[in-house]
Amino acid sequence: MNYETTHIVYFSPTHTSQRVARAVAEGIGMGRRMETDLTTDRSEGIIRVEHELLVAAVPVYAGRVAPLALERLGRLRGSSSPAVVLAVYGNRDYEDALVELRDAVSRLGFTPLAAGAFVGEHSYSRPGMPIAEGRPDDADLEVARRFGKRALEKLVSVQGLQEVRPFPVKGHVPYREAGPSTPAAPVVDEALCAACGECVEVCPTGAVTVDAAGKVQTDKMKCIKCCACVKACPIGARTFDTPYTALLHAKCAARREPELFL
Ligand SMILES: Cc1cc2nc3c(=O)[nH]c(=O)nc-3n(C[C@H](O)[C@H](O)[C@H](O)COP(=O)(O)O)c2cc1C
Repeated sequence: MNYETTHIVYFSPTHTSQRVARAVAEGIGMGRRMETDLTTDRSEGIIRVEHELLVAAVPVYAGRVAPLALERLGRLRGSSSPAVVLAVYGNRDYEDALVELRDAVSRLGFTPLAAGAFVGEHSYSRPGMPIAEGRPDDADLEVARRFGKRALEKLVSVQGLQEVRPFPVKGHVPYREAGPSTPAAPVVDEALCAACGECVEVCPTGAVTVDAAGKVQTDKMKCIKCCACVKACPIGARTFDTPYTALLHAKCAARREPELFL
């Protein structure tokens, strides 16, 4: 089948899912590429994806698709449009996230064509306690480009999408239960913070604000712990202090490689 446009859609607070999605689209190599970034987009209108190949990328939170990513992807509508789905995780595990993403895009009217789990630097990684630091790296991005090329080959080999057979993806249905989440948020070093507002800009939920006194406030009840603000702060004034950082640094040091299904 012939398509001319790749439409990349992602939710990616710390940009690793975005980078993987772009590399896959590069490998697909269609003449036209569209990009929809849902990370800070809180609007609700339907996004129609018709006569385009969708590349959807999300981060894995607690072995599932990040809940807000799933909610934001819910705006998409395909009309049997083909989709490549990508789950990006911090070198611990992606558990049921890829299956969940495949099922979600199917419900939204897409035909899954290929699915990939890639490693991205963990949101909780920090200097001195790295977790998958620098991932996706050049090797990952090369795998992503080749994966995109293979997905396109699969697409051009069929006459119609009804010929695309369901394919196995690692993960379980029913999906693992996500445990309760304790409200928490990054802290700011007020001696360093210049209230530049970068953290406000990048927050997916509007949890970060600057108050009348010019001080940055973070609402724990709105924070999803994505660490976008921590990584975006130009002077390193924000930290998310969680015991998981040391735990993951110690236990998830062995390099995991991308896993591809198509
Ligand atoms: C709340 C939360 C939960 C996470 N859970 C997992 C997990 O279960 N397994 C894993 O390997 N990485 C986990 N991560 C790490 C992210 O999946 C990883 O850093 C990903 O690359 C982030 O994507 P982004 O850069 O597109 O935001 C978690 C991160 C956060 C913030």
